[in-house]
Amino acid sequence: MNKSIKATLLVIAGLIVLVAIAAAVVSFRGIPKYEAKKVDVKIDYTQARVENGVKLASMLCRSCHYNDQTGRFTGRELTEVTQFGKIFSKNITSHAEAGIGKWTDGELVSFLRTGTKPNGQYVPPYMPKLVHISDEDMNSIVAFLRSDNEWVKAEPTKQPECDPSFLTKLLTNIGAFKPFDYPQQYIPQPDTTNQVKHGEYIALYQLECYACHSKDFAKNDYLVPSKSAGFFGGGNKMFDMEGKPISTLNITMDKHSGIGNWTEEEFVKAIKYGTVPGNQPALRYPMTPYSNLTDKEAKAVFAYIKTVPIINNRVERKGVQ
Ligand code: HEC
Ligand code: HEC
Repeated sequence: MNKSIKATLLVIAGLIVLVAIAAAVVSFRGIPKYEAKKVDVKIDYTQARVENGVKLASMLCRSCHYNDQTGRFTGRELTEVTQFGKIFSKNITSHAEAGIGKWTDGELVSFLRTGTKPNGQYVPPYMPKLVHISDEDMNSIVAFLRSDNEWVKAEPTKQPECDPSFLTKLLTNIGAFKPFDYPQQYIPQPDTTNQVKHGEYIALYQLECYACHSKDFAKNDYLVPSKSAGFFGGGNKMFDMEGKPISTLNITMDKHSGIGNWTEEEFVKAIKYGTVPGNQPALRYPMTPYSNLTDKEAKAVFAYIKTVPIINNRVERKGVQ
């Protein structure tokens, strides 16, 4: 064999061994740990906060943490995110062992914002992080978790550990998925007298509509949402609970491929009750009806969406009869 071919083959063999070793390390190492940001807060669990927290949790936590069998937030297998592996949401009732009864307020706030648990374990995007939600809304969510609401009453049911896919391990090990920085400053409530600003807060920072409704989760800019690819133009491929693919729809004001012909009333009905104008079948999971939004809030979201740059992107609603 020619010397240079031999040398090339050796180099290739060496590379294959290196890649195999790297893959084995990633696989064995699993999802990396980080140092959890220490947050020193003691939240006042006022009645007003608990009420706001129940409302927020019904829209932000329930779809993943509610368990039909227990009727509480004891977690379930997330059959809609199998691309990430065999993933289970956790018991977040106040149970001391099975739930989060022993977590401090600061540990909860730190985890919900950054994605790093008190023990340093990082949770990839199969649990969304509340990067920009106001401090007041965050405090409300914690007040709810501490309340005697039926959803979070202590319950001993435990979920198995997650078994993340190789891809998830790889993406977390190369830093494509990593914790968010803890906010540097206090995040105030939105100005609710300014309808567009109020709607922007809900659609980008509180309920994060853009995260699902842009092009691709992987191309979202979670720090500056408006820089996300295909911002509000839909087409993001997701899965329903049976694991069947479902795409998000274009909700910019394009008259042909978006919702440019919708009235405010039609929009409010769609997001609160899942009904779509013109004899179309109701909206399906994971677009869960935001029935606890007030009409004022839903209208504010509409006012904001009207200011978003129009995108022409036709997305078929596959699988609807
Ligand atoms: C898209 C699904 C999803 C949503 C929405 C979601 N979670 Fe989670 N959550 C998960 C998964 C999956 C885990 C388990 C991750 C792990 O252990 O690696 C988890 C873990 C947690 C944990 C850590 C529990 C433990 O014992 O380790 C807490 C606390 C938590 N979630 C609170 C919340 C709260 C509060 C909300 C709403 C503001 C919420 N989650 C919304 C999927 C979700
Ligand atoms: C977890 C992902 C997710 C989130 C978050 C989400 N949506 Fe959706 N949305 C979807 C999916 C998927 C569909 C398509 C459902 C179908 O085809 O049945 C949809 C459909 C819609 C539609 C119907 C559009 C049409 O042309 O029929 C509207 C309007 C809408 N969403 C608005 C919103 C608003 C406003 C928010 C935030 C308050 C939001 N969505 C948050 C996933 C999401």
